[in-house]
Amino acid sequence: MRKQIAAANWKMNLTYQQAEKLFDELLATPHQLKQDQLAIFAVPFPYLQLANERMSGRANVMVAAQNCSNKRSGAYTGEVSVEMLNSMNIPCVIIGHSERREYFNESNQLLAEKIDICLETGIQPIFCCGEPLDIREAGTQNVFVGKQLEESLFHLSAEQLQHIVIAYEPIWAIGTGKTASADQAQEMHAFIRSHLSAKFGDSIAENISILYGGSVKGNNAAELFSRRDVDGGLVGGASLDAAEFVKIINALK
Ligand code: PGA
Repeated sequence: MRKQIAAANWKMNLTYQQAEKLFDELLATPHQLKQDQLAIFAVPFPYLQLANERMSGRANVMVAAQNCSNKRSGAYTGEVSVEMLNSMNIPCVIIGHSERREYFNESNQLLAEKIDICLETGIQPIFCCGEPLDIREAGTQNVFVGKQLEESLFHLSAEQLQHIVIAYEPIWAIGTGKTASADQAQEMHAFIRSHLSAKFGDSIAENISILYGGSVKGNNAAELFSRRDVDGGLVGGASLDAAEFVKIINALK
């Protein structure tokens, strides 16, 4: 059975002291993670060690980075390599968030390079895809998202693909308070799964977790997660509030 996942994406928010406080609050708020459920905390690089100290070793909890370099090592000032993350026992990294694509010009090809290094190193990528508003309005979102998947993931073997989590994040729903409806999310998740199935086979596609991201909150998570192909959420704003994020964890199916 594929994993149901609530992934927190803190983005570039919180001071170190605020991060410590949020971890304290999260640990003090009861949550019910079942066997096939996972909570992931994608925190800024300087807080990875803190996140590890507070969260690692807890059942069904993982710490993640929000990005990594497409280079292995060397003279790339300011970059963080996958090997560095691995050496800190960080098991997971977000790849290709729309904010990386939009503000840092990350292309599908560049993301394919990052995916390759992650998989070689044994780090699990959460691969983000999703269309902007004009594409949704033109009704060509499946072609757009299909191309993102093809150009960043279709060179992988079926064995490699099994180690990837996908996050569908329609750009028009991120940080806007405008959530995709559960039907819109389900429709796209079913498309993503069928697209992966055509290339990698049914059983591989059935086992991939596909998360929805874009204004997931405590009060809409259960409805979104109730759909067949929605295996949890990648959560920005609402993950900065312990009670809200725990509500989202508790809404996993
Ligand atoms: P949001 O962000 O929940 O604040 O919309 C989601 C994301 O960008 O991962």
